[in-house]
Amino acid sequence: MDKPNAPAPHRPGPAGLSAEMSAEMSDAEVVTIMTDMAALLDKRAPDNRSPENASPDNAGNTLANRRTMVDLAARLIALARAGRPDEAPDVMHVPASRYTDPAVHAAERRAIFDRMPFVAGLSRDIAAPGDYLRIDDFGTPIVVTRNRQGQVRAFVNACRHRGAALVYEDRGRLAGGFSCPYHAWSYDLDGKLLGISCNASFGSPDKDALGLIEVAAHERHGLILVAPRPGITIDWDEFIGDALDAELPHWGFDTVTASRVGPIELAGNWKLVLETFLESYHFNYAHRDNLAQYYNGNVNTVDMLGRHLRTATSLRTILTDLAEQPVDQWVPENHIHVKYVLFPGTILINTPQVLEFFQIVPQGVDRTVVRHGCYSRMDLSVPANAVMFERIWESAHTVVQKQDFPYGVTTAHPPLAAGALPGLVFGRNEWPLQILAREIDRAIAEAA
Ligand code: FES
Ligand SMILES: [Fe+2]
Repeated sequence: MDKPNAPAPHRPGPAGLSAEMSAEMSDAEVVTIMTDMAALLDKRAPDNRSPENASPDNAGNTLANRRTMVDLAARLIALARAGRPDEAPDVMHVPASRYTDPAVHAAERRAIFDRMPFVAGLSRDIAAPGDYLRIDDFGTPIVVTRNRQGQVRAFVNACRHRGAALVYEDRGRLAGGFSCPYHAWSYDLDGKLLGISCNASFGSPDKDALGLIEVAAHERHGLILVAPRPGITIDWDEFIGDALDAELPHWGFDTVTASRVGPIELAGNWKLVLETFLESYHFNYAHRDNLAQYYNGNVNTVDMLGRHLRTATSLRTILTDLAEQPVDQWVPENHIHVKYVLFPGTILINTPQVLEFFQIVPQGVDRTVVRHGCYSRMDLSVPANAVMFERIWESAHTVVQKQDFPYGVTTAHPPLAAGALPGLVFGRNEWPLQILAREIDRAIAEAA
């Protein structure tokens, strides 16, 4: 992987880029996209605006969520005026070993990644029976599909004969069921073994005992949770918790359309990647020439919903526009972007136009995969929206790889790994970094 050549403060080279990343987008182009996004906003008052009632199961929560959004906007107006975010009581020092010690990595795998469910994707990713997602990043190769009854099912992506993978693309559609390419054993969408080729000469093992190995899956509010391996159960209520469960329908994850996905491979510890998403302190510097033109840097709310985190950032229009309006006319979603961090590393960023999905998965103590997806809230049958969606996708995919990941990950990991830096410091204004560091430590302690 390329290393940057002494990156200038605001113009780092294309460090840490995966082969996926080829498009170069200038800061000016990113700013133009944000201007165009602002022009698309639906400025109607809340009662007429569809996202308030986007989800049919949203009815009971609509009012509470409206109050939550108004409350977040009011807090952000006060914070923007003060020019600071919700803050921790003190700074926090973390040791380099947190990012470089294989024993720490092994403990995180055991306590977190091998036992906690993760968001495999959105319901719309596998809308029809036979649609599938292949996910290898959590260790156990998994295929997630939808059966004929519309239920989500997940299996180990391995044939019960001699272990060959059944699907090879990241996503696709099965014609009726699984057919192993090695010797053509076939399975239905519930994993039942239907046929053994050359049955007469192969012999007759007990087919009922040779169905695909199931992995737990649970679908709700447009999200699909999957266990990382067989034998791990999913308790949605315990994992998601009441507060987040009540809030998720507000975002209509079951109604977003289309998606663009692109994995990003990075040479660095997964927590460095996670930390790039957790503060707005860097906006005015790392993103000075693009995002900071529209966002208030070093201004964000911080709330814990169970073990998950919610942070909201604001556009500059929150002071110039929203703060000037009567509250009952507020459309907070047009001026604030709400980000959820589902523990430990699934990030859902909500804007009026799109849902950005980032999932951070360690592949080793110094290697990380980011599953990046972008889902549209715009009607993509309108050609201008389809063009806008592509531009939004490309700008997000570019900015994280041009700025966040070179600064936060691929140049930060080597001095830690070399033993040349004793550790890192999290400021009071980087409170979410402190919170998640403690949550990770807590999860490890609980599993010990
Ligand atoms: S490994 Fe699948 S049929 Fe042989
Ligand atoms: Fe950033």
